[in-house]
Amino acid sequence: MARVLAVMLMALAFVQGSALDSEEDRPKGARRRQMERTRAAELEAAIAKSGCADLGGEKWFSDAHGELFQVKQDKCSISFQLKKKSGEMYEKKGVVRGTRVLVEPPFPEGQMLPNQTVMWESGARWERKW
Ligand SMILES: *[C@@H]1O[C@H](CO)[C@@H](O)[C@H](O)[C@H]1NC(C)=O
Repeated sequence: MARVLAVMLMALAFVQGSALDSEEDRPKGARRRQMERTRAAELEAAIAKSGCADLGGEKWFSDAHGELFQVKQDKCSISFQLKKKSGEMYEKKGVVRGTRVLVEPPFPEGQMLPNQTVMWESGARWERKW
């Protein structure tokens, strides 16, 4: 009897396990979801505290070309470096309101997603790397 039960439990665990597997197509799905929850909570806390998402501090983003960079943030004001076609660097400034990222024109409007990727209206995005 105990043996039958054990087999049934194993079968059940197997079914649940494979249901989970098909729900996520990546092997590190559980860790990724945990990371996303952490980031979403962080974002909410930043907005509750100061009224804006936090892009600054120790965070690193990768731009549309995969280059890593950091954003400076003072309260809800941000600045970051951009590269001109000539390769010369220049500074852009902006403000963050809630999850909206508004940069001096010409620049598309951005929105910080719960996983802290910044999605620009142009379709470009800044992925939060760490
Ligand atoms: C964050 O979410 C967006 C939209 O679902 C996705 O395109 C992007 O790749 C995600 N970024 C990370 C770092 O997972």
